[in-house]
This record gives sequence, C-alpha cells and structure tokens, in this order.
Amino acid sequence: MRLQGKTALITGAARGIGLEFARAYIAEGARVALADINAEAVEKAAGSLGPQAVAVQMDVTRQDSIDAGFADAVGKLGHLDILINNAALFSAAPIVEITRADYDRLFAVNVAGTMFCTQAAARHMIARGQGGTIINMASQAGRRGEGLVAVYCATKAAVISFTQSAGLNLVAHGINVNAIAPGVVDGEHWDGVDAFFAKYENKPLGQKKREVGAAVPFGRMGTAADLTGMAIFLATPEAKYIVAQCFGVDGGNWMA
Ligand SMILES: NC(=O)c1ccc[n+]([C@@H]2O[C@H](COP(=O)([O-])OP(=O)(O)OC[C@H]3O[C@@H](n4cnc5c(N)ncnc54)[C@H](O)[C@@H]3O)[C@@H](O)[C@H]2O)c1
Repeated sequence: MRLQGKTALITGAARGIGLEFARAYIAEGARVALADINAEAVEKAAGSLGPQAVAVQMDVTRQDSIDAGFADAVGKLGHLDILINNAALFSAAPIVEITRADYDRLFAVNVAGTMFCTQAAARHMIARGQGGTIINMASQAGRRGEGLVAVYCATKAAVISFTQSAGLNLVAHGINVNAIAPGVVDGEHWDGVDAFFAKYENKPLGQKKREVGAAVPFGRMGTAADLTGMAIFLATPEAKYIVAQCFGVDGGNWMA
C-alpha cells in the first residue's frame, strides 16, 4: 500500500486514464476525489470505485467552479496531498481550418485548467505545510508538432513548460510537480482521435488506431493501466528528489 492515508484530486476522472488512476490510487490505500465537468458520469465513476472515492463536479475552465470543486473535495476528504491535472480536450485540423473557438476551448481546458488547478492545490498545500505532489498529464504531442494537431500539440508543450516553472517555484514548499507524457492510449479519447484522422486522411474508422499501434516500438497501443505505475511512483516519498520533469510512458515512441 504505497499511498496509504494519502488523498488525491484527479481532474477529468469520469472515464479513461483519470478513472484508471483513481482505481489504482485506491488500490494503493488512497482516498480520491474524482473531478469532472460531466456530473452524471463522475458520480457513476466514483460510485463504481466504492467508499474511498468521492465525486466532485468541476469545470476546470471556470475559476468559480475550481474554487467550489477544491472546497468540496477538501470538505469530503479532509485535505489534499496529491493533484493530477488530467482533464483535456483534443482536436485536429489543417492549419488553414483551425478556428479561434477551437483554440480558445483547448487552451482553456488543457493549459489554463492545469495552471489554475495547480494554483488552487498549491495554495491549499502551502497553507497546510505538509508538501504535496502535483502530476500534469502532458503528451508525446507536447514534444514535437504534428501536421494536423497543431493546437493540441501546442497545449501539451505548454503543459511541459508550466510543469518546469511550477516545479521550480513550488519545490521550496515540498511540493513536487512533474508530468507524464503518454504516447497513444486506447480508449474513448482515441476513438475521437481516430475519427478526426478518418476525416482528414480519408481512412476507414479504426485504421489510424491500427497504424499507430503497429508503429509503437513495444508493439501495441498503450492502455490506461500502463500509466498507473508512474502515477503512483511520482506520489511516493521515493520520488521526492524528482522535480520539474516530464516522463514518457509510451512504449518507446519518444526518447527524451
Ligand atoms: N489517450 C491518449 O492516447 C493520450 C495520449 C497522451 C496524453 N493523453 C492525456 O491524458 C489525459 C487523459 O486522457 P484520456 O484519454 O483519459 O481522455 P478522455 O477524453 O477519455 O477523458 C478526459 C476527461 O476530461 C473531462 N473534461 C473535459 N473537459 C473538462 C473540463 N472543462 N473540466 C473538467 N473535466 C473535463 C471529460 O469529461 C473526460 O471525462 C489527457 O490530459 C490527455 O491529453 C492521452
């Protein structure tokens, strides 16, 4: 039980990687607030994990919702040791078709959401004086551009940069900030990505998934469960000296 007695808030936890992180953290002894914009889905997700999980409705793009969501989580769990900034949106389009609305939507969730949830967690952790752990979900897409994925790639590059700045700023308070950069992880998120590529690369549905899976040096797409080891490790005392880093967990897709 590597996280016994710890409490965590995970954004975007109604499904996919965030939900799997919540499951893995609870298996290691933590209590977890699953936060998501989708109130019905997050209630159901938390309900499926038992009494160590609580649901919090939170839209990471709205400051009033972040403030209320953190207060709700602290009220339910007592305090917060760990934040995982996991909520994100994806989109794809050629440069000439990118819309300002899409740019605003993705930066609001992926970048501003990460920054202001980090701020809310840091204020709580500093006031409590016991340090903490913040993990940001970056992506291999933040390491290099992709022709059809300019906006998402830019948001994830910003997450990596913010992780470095926040890590350097908060280390003095005993708060570790690091990031995880997954490669291609199968699930509902990638069903959406596949549909974008079907449209722009004129492929049948499912083909892009098969192609990216075959291209991973490990030999297949990742699963959410492939990422839980790193998410647990970064929240343990063994990771205390690791500051402001971004770790690829991607089957060998990218070598940092
Ligand atoms: N799946 C992959 O292949 C992959 C690869 C690299 C990085 N990532 C990153 O990992 C993280 C999780 O990915 P996933 O595949 O589980 O995504 P997902 O789309 O399955 O889940 C994202 C969750 O975020 C929630 N959300 C969206 N907007 C929100 C908002 N404004 N406020 C609160 N919650 C909101 C959604 O309701 C959803 O439950 C994301 O940061 C993603 O960019 C995923």
